[in-house]
Amino acid sequence: MGYITEVGYLVSAFLFILGIKYMGHPATAIRGNWISAIGMLIAVLFTFFHPSVHFENLWFILLAIVLGTVIGLYLAGVVKFTEMPQMVSFFNGMGGLTIALISIVEFFTRGIVSEVEGGFDWFFVASSAFSGVVGSISFVGSMLAMAKLWGIFESSKRSIFIRVFNALVLLSILIIYVLLIINPSPYLLVFLFIMGGVLGFSGVFPIGGADMPVVIALLNAFTGLAASIAGFAINNNAMIVSGTLVGASGTILTILMAKAMNRTVLGVILGGFGGTKEAASNVKGNVQEISVQDAAVLLAYSKKVIIVPGYGMAVSNAQNEVHELEQLLESKGVEVKYAIHPVAGRMPGHMNVLLAEAKVDYSKLYEMNEINPEFKNTDVVLVVGANDIVNPAAKNNPNSPLYGMPILEVDQAQNIIFMKRSLRPGFAGVENELFYNPKTRMLFGDAKETLKKLISEIQNL
Ligand code: TAP
Repeated sequence: MGYITEVGYLVSAFLFILGIKYMGHPATAIRGNWISAIGMLIAVLFTFFHPSVHFENLWFILLAIVLGTVIGLYLAGVVKFTEMPQMVSFFNGMGGLTIALISIVEFFTRGIVSEVEGGFDWFFVASSAFSGVVGSISFVGSMLAMAKLWGIFESSKRSIFIRVFNALVLLSILIIYVLLIINPSPYLLVFLFIMGGVLGFSGVFPIGGADMPVVIALLNAFTGLAASIAGFAINNNAMIVSGTLVGASGTILTILMAKAMNRTVLGVILGGFGGTKEAASNVKGNVQEISVQDAAVLLAYSKKVIIVPGYGMAVSNAQNEVHELEQLLESKGVEVKYAIHPVAGRMPGHMNVLLAEAKVDYSKLYEMNEINPEFKNTDVVLVVGANDIVNPAAKNNPNSPLYGMPILEVDQAQNIIFMKRSLRPGFAGVENELFYNPKTRMLFGDAKETLKKLISEIQNL
């Protein structure tokens, strides 16, 4: 019967890869998601044909599947889009916990059987202990990251004490791991996983601010690595394939995000950035406001407008109004483009997904490097709830915590209209000197409400 399961796993592996391919473009991303979900369903169903599945536990298995499905469906329905990073972190943590639990269960059963038969399976011991400890780091780290994103935990400043503590915990993990291989005791294994949890906590504890998404992607890569090694340990091809895909994509995402913030992954783990709420010191001048009427005239009589969406657009759910404004301006002969920063919002592709949901034509979305040279020939840049990603301090203030992060160079445009509710800083807690630029006009208010007023003003022109 085992070969039926393997055939099912092969089909699901094919569907996972196909799904990822489709997810590469917003137009096909929903299809890609469905294809991958069907792949996962096939993997689950074909596992029932595996000879090691004990049908006396069938009701437990079915109950777990039903519970998981109900909770998953409920969360997908109620979690707000802006809370998606927390949800990703939660799911990732659950993955890590599952792997640690599989490791413990298999170790207690298979390990002890091997002992009775007169010798341990060393490959199994080494690989299941490794996957389990990485899983427990990922579980505790992800849960803490989730709590931090929800504001339950504040980030502390990094101190040499935490670094020394982390180094000692890591060293103790290595020692326990070696001891476990010399003497495979299930109790040592549990201790190893507890120490993994401690490292997950103390490793993520001092990280904060704009570094959080990089950490979440890194933990995601850890979970993938743990799953694929657990797959080798228990000889499960579905786990090997899906774990490798998660591990590889998590690693690529980590590197791309760190690059988009001009950070190194090691710098994120060891350095300090964001979360400290320190303001940049280069801020001077006066803030100028603009009325909705004046903003409507400025936009409607422009030749070229670039819209820069940010986290505030997601908070106020203003993507449909943004699209409406774009169509209205185009009907008046204005050329409209969107500038998408790689870390705008709170998760990778956040703006792309929202704008795709509002049916914005994908060809109007331009990535940072493509659009930056265009700002100098742009009449008006309309910044809709973005802040850090346009802060010039990232380019010209070496004292700013944002310094070095590539930004959308909106300060090059002829006019800048900022749509936000106040002068409060963005995610990194850094004041934005662009608010004080003589070319900038602030249009205060909730983005959705202001856009509605702006649309009606332009319609009446
Ligand atoms: P932010 O710098 O966080 O700025 C968003 C701005 O939106 C805020 O200053 C806020 O100002 C405004 N806002 C909030 N609610 C609003 C509403 N209802 N209407 C209008 N404006 C509203 O966002 P960003 O420019 O998109 O930059 C993203 C930041 O998040 C970066 O620092 C990035 O590193 C970090 N980050 C990114 C990710 C990923 S992967 N995308 C994940 C986590 C963190 P007011 O309060 O004055 O309205």
